[in-house]
Amino acid sequence: MLERFDKLLESALAQLASASTLEAVEAVRVEFLGRKGSVAEISKEMGKLAPEERAQTGKLLNAVKQDLESKIESRKGALEEEALNKRLESEWVDLTAPALGVRPGSLHPVTQVQQELEDLFRSMGFAVLDGPEVESEYYNFDALNIPADHPARDMQDTFWLKDGRLLRTHTSPVQVRGLETLKPPLKMIAPGRVFRNEEVDASHEHTFYQLEGMMVDRDVSVAHLIYFMKTFLSAIFKRDVTVRLRPGFFPFVEPGFELDIQCLICGGKGCPVCKHSGWVELCPCGLVHPAVLRYGGADPEEWGGFAFGLGLTRLAMMRYGIDDIRLFTSGDLRFLEQF
Ligand code: PHE
Repeated sequence: MLERFDKLLESALAQLASASTLEAVEAVRVEFLGRKGSVAEISKEMGKLAPEERAQTGKLLNAVKQDLESKIESRKGALEEEALNKRLESEWVDLTAPALGVRPGSLHPVTQVQQELEDLFRSMGFAVLDGPEVESEYYNFDALNIPADHPARDMQDTFWLKDGRLLRTHTSPVQVRGLETLKPPLKMIAPGRVFRNEEVDASHEHTFYQLEGMMVDRDVSVAHLIYFMKTFLSAIFKRDVTVRLRPGFFPFVEPGFELDIQCLICGGKGCPVCKHSGWVELCPCGLVHPAVLRYGGADPEEWGGFAFGLGLTRLAMMRYGIDDIRLFTSGDLRFLEQF
C-alpha cells in the first residue's frame, strides 16, 4: 500500500511539473483528486482492510492528498502569475512618452503677415481696433463721404442683407468708428476681412484681407504718411524699399494717393511681376478728408490726419511669391503646410 502511495505521488508530481497551462494542471487534479480519481479509488479499496490498518493507511492517504492539493494550488498560482506578467508586459504603456500622431499646425500666411504688422504698429504707438464685418451703409459709405448717388459706390459692389446692412467692402469704416471711440489725437490700425461682389480670378477674390491705418493729430502732413509707410514696408520686406506717390481718388481722403514700391523682384529694372514698369501698386492712402473728421466728431480746423488701406492678402502674395489668390481659401493643406 505504501509503495502504491509513493508511486501515485511520484507520477502526479511528474505530470504536474510538465503541465504548462492551467488546463493541464486542472487535468492532473481531476485525474488524481477528482471524484473518480486515483485517490478516490484507493479510498474505496480501503474498506477491505482490517480496522487498525485502515486507520493508519487512511492517515497516510490523507497526507498524500493534502500534499498533492497544496502542490497543485502552488503550481496553479505560479502559472497564473506567469500569465499576468506576460499580459502586463504586452499591455505596458509608457505614460511619459511624447504623444504620437498629431501633426503640428501653422498659422495661415495672411495671419502671419497680419500679426507681424500688429506687433510693428503697436511698437510705434498704434492701437489695434476691430470692426464688424456686417456693417451699416452709414459707416461703409456715407460717413466716408460717399453719398448714395456717388459713382465710387459702383466700384465697391457688395453683398446686401435684407435689413439694409452689408458685408463691408473695405476696412475704412473703422476710421470713423475709431474717431468716435478713441478721440484725437490717435494712432490706430484695423486689420480684417472684407468682401466685394467680384468676378473671381487669379488676382481677385470676393473675400480678402485689408489693414486700415490712421493717425489723427495736430499738424499731420504727407511727410508723416511717407515716414510710417516706408518704416513698416522696410520692416515687412526686411530691406530698404523705395516708394513713390501717384495721385489717386478716394472720396474720404484729400489729397489721395496710390503708393507704389519699387519692385523687389527685379529692383526696378522691369519684370513680369511689375508688368515691366519697375513699380508695384501696394497701398492707397491720403490725408483724411475734413468731412470724415466731422462725421467722426473731430473739428477739421483743429485736427488733421493720414489714412491708408493696405491690401493684406496682396502683401502676403508679394512676400511669399504666391501667384494665385484663390490658393488662400482653397483649404488645400499642401499649400498651407509650406508656411
Ligand atoms: N478703402 C480703400 C479701398 O479699399 C483704400 C483706402 C484706404 C484709400 C484709406 C485711402 C485711404 O479701396
